[in-house]
Amino acid sequence: MKIAIPRERRAHESRVSATPDTVKRFVKMGVEVSVESGAGEKAAILDKAYIDAGAKVYPTREETFSGADIILKVQRPRTTSDGGADGLSEYPDGSILIALHNPFGDPIGIEHYAKKSIISFAMEFLPRISRAQSMDVLSSQANLAGYKAVVDAAAQYGRGIPMMMTAAGRVNPARVFVMGAGVAGLQAIATARRIGAVVSATDVRAAAKEEVESLGASFVMVEPDEDETGQTDGGYAKEMSESYKRRQADLVAKHIADQDIVITTALIPGRIAPELINNGMIESMRAGSVIVDLAVEQGGNVTQSVGGEVVTTDNGVIIMGHYNLPSRLASDSSALYARNLLNFVELMINKETSELEIDWEDEIITGSCLTREGKIVHPALLPKNEVPEKQLNETEISEENMISNNDEGD
Ligand code: NAI
Repeated sequence: MKIAIPRERRAHESRVSATPDTVKRFVKMGVEVSVESGAGEKAAILDKAYIDAGAKVYPTREETFSGADIILKVQRPRTTSDGGADGLSEYPDGSILIALHNPFGDPIGIEHYAKKSIISFAMEFLPRISRAQSMDVLSSQANLAGYKAVVDAAAQYGRGIPMMMTAAGRVNPARVFVMGAGVAGLQAIATARRIGAVVSATDVRAAAKEEVESLGASFVMVEPDEDETGQTDGGYAKEMSESYKRRQADLVAKHIADQDIVITTALIPGRIAPELINNGMIESMRAGSVIVDLAVEQGGNVTQSVGGEVVTTDNGVIIMGHYNLPSRLASDSSALYARNLLNFVELMINKETSELEIDWEDEIITGSCLTREGKIVHPALLPKNEVPEKQLNETEISEENMISNNDEGD
């Protein structure tokens, strides 16, 4: 049994899918690990650290992949659907490929996997059940993104964050407003509080109020439509009514004019991100204020955010649209991502024999498998009439778990 770890080649991607810690664990399980030279470099993991952990390091992909049963990646491989070189040609036919695949964003790429009989698993599609929590890459990466958004904003903001009393006068605390209080938003609130900001937050899910307040932030509540919780049965946000959106915009417009830093994280699974900050709101903010748009890769929550760039508006507001925030903390995000993958792969290995043994009845396996036996098998990617009856409900859960990756470059 052999696992291969290639170097990521897409732009804005510094993470790696295994660390010396996870390599050691694989080796202890009786699994061989091969690593492409330089795979961990951008995450501050040198080849030597992998060798010391028990892996073999090879200079080329071809050698790294030779004889591999499982390939672990962060982002999906380049295929001809990316308009670049066909990175998939190097992948052994019939191998298992585990990554963030952006299944809705790149359906043609998935057809390529099927053609090569690759058994692909999308970590975004993992069911969010308690048994899968240790494998939940959406949570592990969103946590770091929320933290990094605050640190980026604080570094960009030309004023202090906490209140400071000095002989020369008082520095007022910064006011931070977080829009969307999911995993990333809650971490952003906690981080901003820790560095002394006065924090407020909003979310369409009424259930978020208690979580926000328990972190010491105030909740900016938009009056819900009658009998409306703002969420699906699975706990995710849903598209709100036009009248709700108007009420939300009015409230945000009043609140935002007094804010120094705004972090937007609002997403509706499977849809373009909702627009929450319009030009008028940006114009109402004072020069030097900072907005970080974490949803920029899914269309953005802020009208003037530009993917991959930091822009300053005519009235001096700085809007940060960095791609792939977790990758900007590559050591930690790789460590957590690699742990998530280790826990997932453990499900597939027989501990006695160290051989591959996949339980195709396990909902974690079926919920994340995209292609198998030369066919696309995930219900969310099949026409509804081809989905087995018992999997129809699971499809809806899976669609909600989607996250899209940055498609820039290769
Ligand atoms: P997400 O990344 O899909 O969305 C971010 C946040 O934006 C959500 O809180 C959402 O309600 C909010 N939002 C969407 N549209 C909005 C709008 N128009 N205005 C303001 N806010 C808006 O969410 P994430 O972080 O994946 O979490 C979604 C839910 O899943 C949460 O309830 C979370 O607690 C839950 N969860 C459950 C897990 C588990 O059971 N293992 C693990 C992680 C999260």
